[in-house]
Amino acid sequence: MKIAVLPGDGIGTEIVAQAAKVLEVLRSDGLKIELEYARLGGAAYDAEGDPFPTTTENLVLAADAVLLGAVGGPQYDTLPRAMRPEQGLLRIRKRLGLFANLRPALVYPELVNASSLKHELVSGLDIMILRELTGDIYFGQPRGARVSASGEREGFDTMVYSESEIRRVAHVGFNIAMKRTKKMCSVDKANVLDTSMFWREIVTDVAKEYPQIELSHMLVDNAAMQLVRAPKQFDVILTGNIFGDILSDEASMLTGSIGMLPSASLDANNKGLYEPSHGSAPDIAGKDIANPLATILSVALMLRYTFAREDLAQRIEGAVRKVLQQGLRTGDIFEAGMQKVGCSAMGDAVVKSL
Ligand code: IPM
Ligand code: MG
Repeated sequence: MKIAVLPGDGIGTEIVAQAAKVLEVLRSDGLKIELEYARLGGAAYDAEGDPFPTTTENLVLAADAVLLGAVGGPQYDTLPRAMRPEQGLLRIRKRLGLFANLRPALVYPELVNASSLKHELVSGLDIMILRELTGDIYFGQPRGARVSASGEREGFDTMVYSESEIRRVAHVGFNIAMKRTKKMCSVDKANVLDTSMFWREIVTDVAKEYPQIELSHMLVDNAAMQLVRAPKQFDVILTGNIFGDILSDEASMLTGSIGMLPSASLDANNKGLYEPSHGSAPDIAGKDIANPLATILSVALMLRYTFAREDLAQRIEGAVRKVLQQGLRTGDIFEAGMQKVGCSAMGDAVVKSL
C-alpha cells in the first residue's frame, strides 16, 4: 500500500500526524504500508513556487492512494488565482481523474446533541452525498474577466457537463445505492439551467439499468431546505460539483461538526484521495486543538474503497466510536460533562483504542 501523504496547510500538519499514527499501528500489525510525504497548496507554493509542484504530481501518480490534510490560508488570498492553494487541490483532483467524491454525513449517537438541529431530526441520520468533482462550473471553459460589448467589465464562468461525465458518476451513485437502502435522489436546478436539464435526462436514462433503485429528483434550493427540515428522508444524494460543494457543507452541520466528516475522492479504478471535508482552519492552526477524527475516518475510507479492507475500515471506525463513548471531545464537539482533549491527545486515544 503506497500512500502519498500531503499534510498541506494550517491544521493539515497536525491532523495528518494523527492519521499517520493510526497507519503506523496497522503497519506494526503487519500491513505493508509505505508512506511518502510531499507538499500541496500554500506550503508547496512557499517552498517550490507552485501549489501542485511536479515533485508532488509524480509522487501521487505513483501512489495507490493519497492522504491529504487541508489547503489554504489568508496569506495566500492576494496571490494570482493560478498560484492559490485551492488551485493545488483542484489540479490534483483533475490530474488523478477523481470524479466521484463521497461525503458521508453520519450522526454518531454520542454526538447527537452537538448538532444544531433537534435531536429527533438527526438521531440515526446516515446520508451519503456523492458529488461530481472534476466537471461543472469549477472547470468549464471559457472563464475569466472581460469587457462586455457595452464596455462594462464582467466576470464569467461556464457551467457544462458532458454526457460521459454524468453517466460515470451516476453509475457510481447507483452502485452505492445498491449497497444501502436502494434510494437515490439526484439534485439539480433543472427548472432554470440547461446543464441541469441535461443532467436529469442522463441520470434518468442510466437509472434504467438499475430497476431496483428508487430514483427521485429534487431542485437544489428545495434540497437545501429539506436537508434542515427533514434530513432523514435522504439516503444517497447525487449531485454536480458546485451544488455538492454547498450541500455537503450544509449536511456536515447536521452531524454536529464538520470536524467529524471524512471524504473519499475516487477515480474509475478506486484509486483515491482521502481528506477531511473541512478546511485548513488557519485560526486554530498550531494550537493542537483541531479535531483529527475526520482525517482518521478518512483513513478508514481509504482502507474500505482503495484497499478493499472493510475489516480494517470498521476497526478504525470502531476505535473512533470508542473514544467518543469514553467521553473524549475536541473543542468543536465539546459539551458539558465531557473530557476536553487536544488534537494529539485525541489521536493517541484512537491509537490506544485500536
Ligand atoms: C471542498 C472545498 C474546495 C472546493 C475548495 C477549497 C477549492 O470547499 O473540498 O469542498 O470547493 O471543492
Ligand atoms: Mg467545500
